[in-house]
Amino acid sequence: MRILVSGAAGRMGQEVCKAVQQAQDLELVGGVDIAGKTVPGLTMFKDLGEAIDAVSPDVVVDFTSPQAVEGNMEVCFARKIPMVIGTTGISDDSLQRWVERGKQANWRAIIAPNFAVGAVLMMEYAKQTAEFFSSVEIIEYHHDQKKDAPSGTALKTGKMIEEIIKKPVPIHSVRLPGFVAHQEVIFGLPGQTLTIRHDSTHRESFMPGVLLAISKINEVEGVVFGLEHILFSNI
Ligand SMILES: NC(=O)c1ccc[n+]([C@@H]2O[C@H](COP(=O)([O-])OP(=O)(O)OC[C@H]3O[C@@H](n4cnc5c(N)ncnc54)[C@H](O)[C@@H]3O)[C@@H](O)[C@H]2O)c1
Repeated sequence: MRILVSGAAGRMGQEVCKAVQQAQDLELVGGVDIAGKTVPGLTMFKDLGEAIDAVSPDVVVDFTSPQAVEGNMEVCFARKIPMVIGTTGISDDSLQRWVERGKQANWRAIIAPNFAVGAVLMMEYAKQTAEFFSSVEIIEYHHDQKKDAPSGTALKTGKMIEEIIKKPVPIHSVRLPGFVAHQEVIFGLPGQTLTIRHDSTHRESFMPGVLLAISKINEVEGVVFGLEHILFSNI
């Protein structure tokens, strides 16, 4: 498969470029980033539409910013190019609209706020635990360059728990140098607490999930939100 990486010069984009280059069945055909940002050895473009027309990718992988991602989705949607999206900060309403549009136009995308298998399991375990503990708070810790707060992972975890406990889950966001991406889901009952914690200590933690999503993109229908849908199913 021919892969174009959008946001290629960013922290995640560079890691994705490395992972795609090392994968035997994938070919990294180009990168897109804003003017002047380059990745050594990679053909770079400033404009996603121009890049798609030039290198004809099978999949666009997007790790850009909350401000850029939906414009990039429009570009891919118009050209019917499937996407794997890790960019966070897309609102619930927008996600819903994209799910509808994807279904109607048969356009495929896998969007995941967290591609680390441990984080997906943390969310699943938190959902299971919420059946027994109705008092819960989330603390998420990220590096100080992260643009959105709370994190997409915390919002998704909170939503999954809220479906069970039927009340809002407080989320606390810490932004400090030294962190990559970490989250604690703390449950409390009289006399006991239960903490489910996940730590991404390096961005390589996200790469197996990104590669899995790329390999499954032609098997999903429409827009899928959450890696759990491809991790725990037989597609
Ligand atoms: N899903 C996950 O598992 C996961 C994990 C980590 C980070 N993230 C998310 O990924 C996104 C990127 O994170 P990061 O730490 O790499 O950020 P970053 O700022 O290091 O990189 C983003 C890159 O996108 C580029 N960019 C911005 N607008 C663009 C546009 N219109 N077209 C092309 N490139 C553009 C920027 O120049 C930058 O190089 C964030 O939303 C972050 O929350 C997701």
